[in-house]
Amino acid sequence: MKVFAVRGKFENKFGESIMSDKPEYFIDENGLRLDGRRTDEIRPMTMEMGVLSRADGSCYLEWGNNKVIAAVYGPRELHPRRLQRPSEVLVRYRYNMAAFSVEDRIRPGPSRRSTEISKVSGEAFEPVVMTQYYPGAVIDVFAEVLQADAGTRTAAINAATLALADAGIPMKGLVAACAVGKVDGQLVLDLNKPEDNYGDADLPVAMTQDGEITLLQMDGNLTHEEFIKAMEMVKKGCDQIFELQRKTLISRFGSEDDVEALEGSIETEPEEEEAEELSEEEVPSEKEDVSDTGDNAEDVDDSGEKFKEDVADFDEQRESGSDEEDKTSDEDVKDEEDEASDEDVKGEEDEQ
Ligand code: CDP
Repeated sequence: MKVFAVRGKFENKFGESIMSDKPEYFIDENGLRLDGRRTDEIRPMTMEMGVLSRADGSCYLEWGNNKVIAAVYGPRELHPRRLQRPSEVLVRYRYNMAAFSVEDRIRPGPSRRSTEISKVSGEAFEPVVMTQYYPGAVIDVFAEVLQADAGTRTAAINAATLALADAGIPMKGLVAACAVGKVDGQLVLDLNKPEDNYGDADLPVAMTQDGEITLLQMDGNLTHEEFIKAMEMVKKGCDQIFELQRKTLISRFGSEDDVEALEGSIETEPEEEEAEELSEEEVPSEKEDVSDTGDNAEDVDDSGEKFKEDVADFDEQRESGSDEEDKTSDEDVKDEEDEASDEDVKGEEDEQ
């Protein structure tokens, strides 16, 4: 396909003045975009689960020219203990772009952009992760962008969903994400890089299988009618992604029956009161339904169990009052060590 481009200095949406090829138009006379897609078409996507042996769950995703890997560690005990949430697990999400992932090398380390994306992406999983099962623990999700071509935050969320499922984390359902935007006065689904950088609007959205929106951000301007239409388009895009995720789960866990069992075990959430009443014995059996379907998930199950035992031991010791002072001071030392090592790492990052 012939693409006309204007070579020159342009200000991209990050306010940087860059030499680039801004396309003269984004949609041709046949209604096709520069990469040959229709306006309501997403880029080809492939996903593979269980790609990292040292993570509890992982997923590698390619979406157009985007390449993203997501890794999940946990649930595991959270240190320092003051960060623990007494009635639920903390889900920490870190989005990071590799220095080599874009045309101009990105400065390694956290940035304002990656901090923002990490925060909103972690929150996108809040309605689905059944946090009540691992109070005081942490689940770490790392999303590493190896190659970026617009839509990396949505690509990372799609990969992270399957990495969480791979780790056997109890979830009410999956999360899918996709962006919609506007170029040449028309709405387009799943923006590619020129559309993202030079388009009139960019609207990344994540949602649950029930259509509950868990992330919504927007750059640019859309009219009210355009916004309504954009949300319909993005819903269709996410439905396609749910289907791809479902297929990936099937190929990971064997048969359709397995996946149905998995979905069955993660779909229903106990009523709030019921959840409180769950005894220590009942919780693992819920988890077993999920973890039965994957090897890595079993490891998580063990660590969750071990953590519960540790907490029970600790409670017992505290109640009996034995070694209370020693225990407390030991913990303080451990927490301080953790904090100190955190600071060391931070100091090293700063130096870099
Ligand atoms: O990737 P996503 O669309 O979620 O985020 P964005 O902030 O809208 O960035 C769009 C694209 O711009 C990224 O996917 C990268 O390809 C590119 N980008 C870049 O080249 N340099 C940056 N510092 C940030 C993004």
